[in-house]
Amino acid sequence: MWDPAVYRRYGTERSRPFFDLVGRITTETPRAVVDLGCGPGELTRTLAGRWPGARITGIDSSPEMIEKASAEPGPVAFRLGDVNDWRPEPETDVVVTNAVLQWVPDHPALLVRWISSLPAGATLAMQVPGNFRNPGHRAVWDLAEGPLREELREDPVDDAAGYADLLLGAGATVDAWETEYVHLLPVEGPDHPVLRWMEGTALRPVRAALGDEEWTAFRAELAVRLTDAYPERHGLVAFPFRRIFVVASV
Ligand SMILES: C[S@@+](CC[C@H](N)C(=O)[O-])C[C@H]1O[C@@H](n2cnc3c(N)ncnc32)[C@H](O)[C@@H]1O
Repeated sequence: MWDPAVYRRYGTERSRPFFDLVGRITTETPRAVVDLGCGPGELTRTLAGRWPGARITGIDSSPEMIEKASAEPGPVAFRLGDVNDWRPEPETDVVVTNAVLQWVPDHPALLVRWISSLPAGATLAMQVPGNFRNPGHRAVWDLAEGPLREELREDPVDDAAGYADLLLGAGATVDAWETEYVHLLPVEGPDHPVLRWMEGTALRPVRAALGDEEWTAFRAELAVRLTDAYPERHGLVAFPFRRIFVVASV
């Protein structure tokens, strides 16, 4: 289950890759724009400012996220749906999917299917985190044992060159890059900021799989490891975060 409030911690840091991604889309007057895995919707709504004449839809498989997104009136339509079932409409000129496909095991096949069925001139823009080998994820992986490890995927994404190869092979023109942001997270309250960050995303499956006592023990041990890996300096913790971007056009 996604908790929109916990996910929106560090909203400024989380939104920057979305704007860096969308900034590389050159389509000027799309007829329809879709944001797949739109989350709580505030980033999707910014697309209406960029393309006021377009029909914009946000789709997400989390009822909590769609409830949050739909709560605010505006020109964007939000609906519940799984990206695995989504197919472009004839007027879908822009597809955005930001920080979603790392949760979707067969996403390379989806990307090929989508790019092959978009109308001429359309653009598909995706971003996924590429930080699964960083100390935070390694610590979660090392602490997870037995069945809990099966809830996690060690490295669920390709690199930018891999996605470029995939989409060039499907006939697209590709712009692909990677960026390592260094988020400087303030130390506020008793919890390590990287732990607070990870609770909004990567730790969700761990929390769901563990009972309260096991979770408390897991969280405490993880906090020790994160404090070693990401020490405080000047009241801040430097959290390097690599992200992978691909903008493909047909
Ligand atoms: C990290 S959030 C990103 C939300 C938003 N795109 C953003 O940039 O803030 C990941 C979102 O992907 C959604 N998601 C994960 N798997 C999905 C799937 N198979 N179909 C649709 N949405 C999915 C989750 O419900 C969650 O809202």
